[in-house]
Amino acid sequence: MPRKLAAGNWKMNGLRANLAELETLEARHGDAGVDILICPPATLISACEDTPFDIGGQDCHVSESGAHTGDISAEMLADAGASYVLTGHSERRADHGETDAMVATKTQAAYDAGLIAVICIGETLAEREGGTTLTVIDTQLNGSIPEAANAENTVIAYEPVWAIGTGKVPTLEQIGEVHAHIRDRLTNRFSDGSEMRILYGGSVKGSNAAEIFSVAHVDGALVGGASLKADDFSPIITALENS
Ligand code: PGA
Repeated sequence: MPRKLAAGNWKMNGLRANLAELETLEARHGDAGVDILICPPATLISACEDTPFDIGGQDCHVSESGAHTGDISAEMLADAGASYVLTGHSERRADHGETDAMVATKTQAAYDAGLIAVICIGETLAEREGGTTLTVIDTQLNGSIPEAANAENTVIAYEPVWAIGTGKVPTLEQIGEVHAHIRDRLTNRFSDGSEMRILYGGSVKGSNAAEIFSVAHVDGALVGGASLKADDFSPIITALENS
């Protein structure tokens, strides 16, 4: 069984004062039986060095260094104390035009810097309603995951775009169908694909976490809004520990 992972994506939220939330979380889950990852804004990564949790960036550039004003390389994230990075989050794909090919290149850059990549995929509402969800997932899996991926350096996050920040969650059957499909594709392509962790993301909360974690091939969650406050993230971690 893949090791379970509770990942929090703070997005463009968080000032130094908010790091107190991590201290509260540490008091409750400092020795959790699951992996806990926090992806704060890049400005806070080095300030997280004393936390027991894994720390991740939310994006990285494809290059190691160079004339790219405002961008951050995977090596810089690692140097600041990160061990993970999100790649291909739907907000990056939508807001910054990131394609599958760019996501694959960023993910390779993450591997080169020794980071674990959390590669995000998921269909839009139009794709879901048009019945093309699994085709879209296949295209994203094929295009976004480099050949060098393995269960140690890669986590897949299935995040239906229409479920992110909306309070709408797919049915357990829908989550189960997509996760089983992803598992099948990973197992076919990678020798350790059965060990690669697959997270569900999109409006995960304390109130729905336990049922989501009961679905086969859901190895954890990528949590946005509910990861910002320890009181909201803590019940999700507890549900994962108990799953
Ligand atoms: P949400 O975001 O939990 O706020 O829906 C999830 C994500 O975007 O990773």
